[in-house]
Amino acid sequence: MSQNQTTIAPQPGIMEIALYEGGASKVAGVENVVKLSSNENPFGPSEKAREAVVRAAHGLHRYPNTDHAGLRAAIAEVHGLDPERIICGVGSDEIIHFLCQAYAGPGTEVLFTEHGFLMYRISAHAAGATPVEVAERDRVTDVDALIAGATPRTRLIFVANPNNPTGTMIGLPELERLARAVPQAILVVDAAYAEYVEDYDGGAELASRLSNVFMTRTFSKIYGLGGLRVGWGYGPREIVDVLNRIRGPFNLSNVALEGAEAAMRDREHIARCQAENARMRAWLAEALAEKGVPSDTSCANFILARLADAETAGACDEYLKAQGLIVRRVGGYGLPQCLRITVGDEASCRRVAHVIGQFMAERAGSR
Ligand SMILES: Cc1ncc(COP(=O)(O)O)c(C=O)c1O
Repeated sequence: MSQNQTTIAPQPGIMEIALYEGGASKVAGVENVVKLSSNENPFGPSEKAREAVVRAAHGLHRYPNTDHAGLRAAIAEVHGLDPERIICGVGSDEIIHFLCQAYAGPGTEVLFTEHGFLMYRISAHAAGATPVEVAERDRVTDVDALIAGATPRTRLIFVANPNNPTGTMIGLPELERLARAVPQAILVVDAAYAEYVEDYDGGAELASRLSNVFMTRTFSKIYGLGGLRVGWGYGPREIVDVLNRIRGPFNLSNVALEGAEAAMRDREHIARCQAENARMRAWLAEALAEKGVPSDTSCANFILARLADAETAGACDEYLKAQGLIVRRVGGYGLPQCLRITVGDEASCRRVAHVIGQFMAERAGSR
C-alpha cells in the first residue's frame, strides 16, 4: 500500500514534544518481573473500588453523567472542600493539559523546576507556550529561583510537592510566598503524592484562600487506580469554570466515576497503604544507605537512589533488570546518575535492596 505523506504542519510547539515514556513493565526473557518503575500502589485499589467497577460494567450502554456530581461530592466530603470548586479529569495529566490550554499559549511562558514532572513541558509545548526551567537547590524546589525566573509573560508555575522524581518537598509557607510574589501567574500545586505525607493538605487550604493557586490530585498513586485514569483539581471557582469549558463532557467513563468514588470513600484502605508505604520507605532508604547508595528523604512512594555517576546507574539498572527488577532511569529528568525506585511491598523492597547490595559489592570487588 502506498504511504500518503502529509505536508500539513501541526500547530507551533507540537513537534517540540518528546514522547513521554511510561515505566517499563517487561524484561525480555525474564519471567515474574517486579515493576517498581511507575510509582504504583503495590496493594492495588480498594476492594470496594473493584466491586464498583464491576457493577458499573452493567451500565456500559449508557453515557456517563457530564457533571461528575457523585465523585465531586465524595471528594468534597472527604477533604472538606466545596464541590463546586472541583473538576475531574482523565488523570491529573488532563487537568495539567487543560490549565496549559486555557491559560498559556504562544508568547506566554510556563515555569517549572529542572527536575519537575515531564508533563509540564509537554503540555506547555502542546499549547504553543514556552516552557521555562529554573534550577533546584540540591534536588529541592527553589522558590527564589522560580520568583527570579518569572516574567510578565509567565502564566503558569507548576510545582509538584512532593516532586517526582526527587521525592522532596517544600513547606506551605514557601508555596504561599511564591504565589504572592508572582500574582500574574497561577501557581499549580501538583499534589499527586500528597497522601504519602503526614499532616499535609496538598495545598488545598492555599487554593481555597488565594486567587492564583490551584491544586491537582490523582487516583493513580495511593488509590491504586493508575489504569482507571482519574484525577482532579481544586481552586478558585473562576478557574474551574474556565477549565470546564474545554473539558470534554464525557471525559470520564461510568466505570471511572464509580470506581474512583468508591475508592475515595474507603478511607481504611488508604490509611493502611499510607502506613505500609511509610514503613517500607524508611526501611528501603536505610537499607540502600547501608549499601553505599544515598537518597534524599523521600516524602512520596519512591526513593531516588543516587549512584556514583550515570555509567554506574546504567549498570545497576541492567543488573536489576537481569534479575527481573524494573526501576526507572531518570536521565530525562536531568538526573542520569540516579534510579527512581517505587516503594513496593515488603518482599519487593527486600529483593531490590538485596540485589543493589550485590551490585555494589561486585563493583567494589572489581576495582
Ligand atoms: C508529579 C506528578 N503529577 C502528575 C502525575 C500524573 O498522574 P495521573 O495523570 O496518572 O493522575 C504524575 C504521575 O506520575 C506525577 O508523578
